[in-house]
Amino acid sequence: MSNRSAVLAQGRPEKRTHAGARSAHPRSAPRVTSSGRWEFFSAFLREPLKVGAFWPSSPALSQKIVDGCQLENREMVVEIGPGTGAFTSLILDRMNPKSRFFAVELNQMNVLQLRRRFPKLQVYADSAERLPKYLKQHSTRKADCIVSGLAWGNMLPATQNKIFDAVVDSLAPGGLFTTFAYVHAQVLPTSLRFRKRLFNHFSKVEVTPIVWRNLPPAFIYRCWHH
Ligand SMILES: C[S@@+](CC[C@H](N)C(=O)[O-])C[C@H]1O[C@@H](n2cnc3c(N)ncnc32)[C@H](O)[C@@H]1O
Repeated sequence: MSNRSAVLAQGRPEKRTHAGARSAHPRSAPRVTSSGRWEFFSAFLREPLKVGAFWPSSPALSQKIVDGCQLENREMVVEIGPGTGAFTSLILDRMNPKSRFFAVELNQMNVLQLRRRFPKLQVYADSAERLPKYLKQHSTRKADCIVSGLAWGNMLPATQNKIFDAVVDSLAPGGLFTTFAYVHAQVLPTSLRFRKRLFNHFSKVEVTPIVWRNLPPAFIYRCWHH
């Protein structure tokens, strides 16, 4: 792995490579309303494989995802697979008012819920495969932070490849790509394949300890591209 470094911190105290975000933002994550949770669950019932989870991410997982993003220093932030907005509300809360942010969500019910919850946010009802097209519409080719809520382990390899390639194409040098994975799904060939792609592509990959206060428990990948 020559010039590539990998930080594997699962099950151990988290290795922090960036300072600041946690202490600067002590607020806890705003909770998704119970109707939001039920809408998410209905979306899951209609498209279980695509939605990939029966319940939105918990405040604990959302907080940890967003804590790692250093949002105050980002210019162009993108969220793919926001669901009903567990991470979105924290991103909006913490991002620099001068920076730009949009989301790409495939499930129509979740798109409607997002647009109701965040009327000023640009939400594209489409697949994250087409992320480069939406960045162009924002007069840029690259984002310096891409937050993913996608269930990578549930995807067919061809879809996983297309979305991964779109992320790689869209990430600015030095930018951060962050996503999470469910612990129980780690044995799936698609999850292992995704993990391998992360470690092969990114110059640095950090894996957090498991966030037990999430249903199901999950951990986070933070990946940098130099
Ligand atoms: C596991 S859920 C997570 C939702 C939310 N980020 C959270 O953590 O609560 C995955 C979300 O990704 C969306 N999704 C699945 N495939 C997608 C794709 N190709 N492009 C954009 N969104 C997609 C699903 O509809 C769902 O809302």
